[in-house]
Amino acid sequence: MSKKRVLSGIQPTHDSFHLGNYLGALKQWVALQDDNDAYYCVVDLHALTVETDPKLLQKRTLLSAAQLIAIGIDPGKSTLFVQSQVPAHNQLAWVFECITGFGEASRMTQFKDKSQKGGAERTNVGLFTYPILQAADILLYQPDFVPVGEDQRQHIELTRDIAERFNKKFGKVFNIPQAQIIKSLAKISDLQEPTAKMSKSATSMAGVIEILDTPEAILKKFKSSVTDDDKEIRFDEKLKPGISNLLSIHSALSGKSVKEVESEFSGKGYGDFKSVVAEIVIETLKPIARRTNELMSDKDGLIKILQDGSERANQVASSTLKAAYNAVGII
Ligand code: TYM
Repeated sequence: MSKKRVLSGIQPTHDSFHLGNYLGALKQWVALQDDNDAYYCVVDLHALTVETDPKLLQKRTLLSAAQLIAIGIDPGKSTLFVQSQVPAHNQLAWVFECITGFGEASRMTQFKDKSQKGGAERTNVGLFTYPILQAADILLYQPDFVPVGEDQRQHIELTRDIAERFNKKFGKVFNIPQAQIIKSLAKISDLQEPTAKMSKSATSMAGVIEILDTPEAILKKFKSSVTDDDKEIRFDEKLKPGISNLLSIHSALSGKSVKEVESEFSGKGYGDFKSVVAEIVIETLKPIARRTNELMSDKDGLIKILQDGSERANQVASSTLKAAYNAVGII
């Protein structure tokens, strides 16, 4: 049986990924690489929608690749590459922009949120066309599955719509991919604001656990996490979003079910529970941070891995681009 194809991407907008990225997406990326033909990219072009110092973007692109390898992405199994090193992404994005409605793109909630936050002055056109570039990232590789967190669901829907529209108009070129979203981990919340998702662009980092945080910082963030006035450690997303978030994190990392964790902590206080969750997170992240630092001390080695990856990615992407160009009549 031929392997299924998987593709996903992550933005290098910060020095460190966070626990939401790790549990919602990256842990799945690692699990999927064994039995699938996996393509994972650091989407540096998408990161240009946020104003960043050029040197910092360079550093963060490498840091992102290092973190992915440290988490367990094996460049021998997966094709790990940087988006900008595969020009077909931009080339196909233009074709897609010409078959995407202005209204359709305007309905993307991430665009609406980000443009509202930034105001008209700071909203660039790249932010508006962002999901169309994402559709190109995906469809170039003809994947069956796209492992992502809940916040990307609408972008994957748009990607499917674009692929279907293209195929209908110009003949079948694209496979229609499915989002792969693990419900219980798809929206890890901010520890200070448990009804909001953990996000790289949070106004305060007090509720955001970064993969490269020190153990002391992680413990402090968990200890001061916002819960409720009740005393019971019980999963109830509506009434107890903070405790439910901690239960999800514990369960994902300990491998125990939420029910098992609930009964383990029955009658115990929130303080004890927070410390245990912190400890599990610290033990998971410590080796990842160590390995990331080791990889960053050999930048040439890292660049070589990414070059190999982009060569492989270019082969697949350029053949899909050629088929798409042919279909629309570009000679
Ligand atoms: P990005 O860089 O914001 O996030 C990377 C991945 O992490 C997931 N994620 C979360 N999951 C659970 N809980 C959270 N609090 C949380 N925060 C983030 C995201 O859903 C994502 O899977 N547009 C994409 C990048 C992208 C992409 C692609 C993804 C560009 N091209 C092609 C897939 C396929 C983004 O901004 O992800």
